[in-house]
Amino acid sequence: MTRILITSALPYINGVKHLGNLVGSLLPSDAYARFMRMRGAEVMHICATDEHGTPAELAAAAAGEPVEAYCARLHEVQKSLGEGFRLEFDHFGRSSSDRNHRLTQHFAKALFEQGLIYEVTEQQMWSESDGRFLPDRYLEGTCPNCGYERARGDQCENCTKQLDPTDLINPRSSVSGATDVEARETKHLYLKQSALQEQIRAWIETKSDWPVLATSIAKKWLNDGDGLRDRGITRDLDWGIPVKKGDEDWPGMEGKVFYVWFDAPIEYIAATAEWADAHGKSEADWRRWWREDEGARDVHYVQFMAKDNVPFHTLSFPATIMGSGEPWKKVDFLKGFNWLTYQGGKFSTSQGRGVFMDQALEILPSDYWRWWLLSNAPESADSDFTWEGFQSGVNKDLADVLGNFASRVTKFCRSKFGETVPEGGEPGEAEAALAVEIDTRLKGYAAAMEAVEMRKAASELRGLWVAGNEYLQHAAPWSVFKTDEAQAAMITRTGLNLAALYATVSRPFIPDASDALAGAMGIAPNGAWPESAAVALSQLPAGHAFSVPENLFRKIEDAEREGWEAQFEGAAT
Ligand code: MF3
Ligand code: ZN
Repeated sequence: MTRILITSALPYINGVKHLGNLVGSLLPSDAYARFMRMRGAEVMHICATDEHGTPAELAAAAAGEPVEAYCARLHEVQKSLGEGFRLEFDHFGRSSSDRNHRLTQHFAKALFEQGLIYEVTEQQMWSESDGRFLPDRYLEGTCPNCGYERARGDQCENCTKQLDPTDLINPRSSVSGATDVEARETKHLYLKQSALQEQIRAWIETKSDWPVLATSIAKKWLNDGDGLRDRGITRDLDWGIPVKKGDEDWPGMEGKVFYVWFDAPIEYIAATAEWADAHGKSEADWRRWWREDEGARDVHYVQFMAKDNVPFHTLSFPATIMGSGEPWKKVDFLKGFNWLTYQGGKFSTSQGRGVFMDQALEILPSDYWRWWLLSNAPESADSDFTWEGFQSGVNKDLADVLGNFASRVTKFCRSKFGETVPEGGEPGEAEAALAVEIDTRLKGYAAAMEAVEMRKAASELRGLWVAGNEYLQHAAPWSVFKTDEAQAAMITRTGLNLAALYATVSRPFIPDASDALAGAMGIAPNGAWPESAAVALSQLPAGHAFSVPENLFRKIEDAEREGWEAQFEGAAT
């Protein structure tokens, strides 16, 4: 059986995520995992909250809470919002877990033993008025690469360049705004990534099947300027994973923690161990997903992330894994996404601009969001969320096409034949043509999902729905019924079978509607992928009971849309 390991980039703990974060990794990873399960693969689908580093500390300080309590609370918030969006993870872990502490310290020891970690006495930015070092996001300033004025000490959001705090022009404290920052001496561990550069380049060269977005970013970092520079992997912070060599102390590193970008991807592995712990499984049960010497050679590993995460997943994390000298599983296919913009601009957490996961669920059920976001995923370019586009996508695809079809065929059947699949009549040319179209679309849909092309997959799925609508419209059982009841019964039976097919194949995109439709059609909610149109269209035999699905989708009214548009515009306007 095919075994597929799927990870979605770990959302930062620092608050509720917006629709852009949702479509940039969580949703496509969920749709892909659902599809693969439906195809019969053994799937391990992993995510977690990314809880360390300055964003967590800053957010906790802003909320007036101790950082540990803040992280515990926000983990639950994010977990339940994920459930609200029907994100089906085998485990949604925490990078602050005991498992991740131990595994991160283990990797540090392995890297040290491979001669890849060295100590550096260096200058770090210190703020006299804050009374502390200002690592990473505690420091803001102008990006030396692109001139963006709000670049952070660790990375420029605008051009994605990874930075050192001392690179920033006009540095200031992001906590207090203090500009009395000065470089002071402190000692840190560095990972000798430079020693792994050629190994990583050779590995990236083998990934010709990756989307260009991923390989082009990786190659740009390898070839431009600095290549794979050595990176500091420790920080002067309180919150994080204490710097240790396995379970031994690391002399000189007392009071320091690992850098968040060192421990976060290790949590992909640790979260799988957390899954084992949570389900009474053995060490071997999780290690067979991750250790090539313990079964993971057969695993196909797919990662989902937004483009700013690509350098960390193509260079830094592989460097950690390869450098350890241990046979850990590396990513086989990396899917990167561009940005989702909001009404032509940026989503902004600070200005409350755009729609956040909690707000989205308050105004509409998750399927509406899932469908629009996935069918408009920012794959080959950025895409823009507009309320008009959202309204029209939802109204057309979900209400007019799928919803209308399901309600029309079931209501017609109920009124003329009752609530069981009618018998009689023989399929003819129209049904044969329909089957050909369904087969083509099913193949196209599956191929797009296998290639992790969400928009294409969505358009094939929409094509399946449209084919059913057009068939019903042309076959017009309501007219045929007046002259030929058997023929009308056959058309209706075909239509009901189409509805059952839609219940199954729509699941990766709109799982709640799938459940409702499967329930109405009297089929199992977790049906396998259909073998062929012929099999799918004879799934419901004559006499099979069904009911009319209640309001699968409603339309978004103009007035509602206008209200939301105003409500989510944010404080800035
Ligand atoms: N928290 C990061 C972000 O939101 C993603 C971390 S992915 C991980 O951009 F692999 F490093 F965990
Ligand atoms: Zn920049």
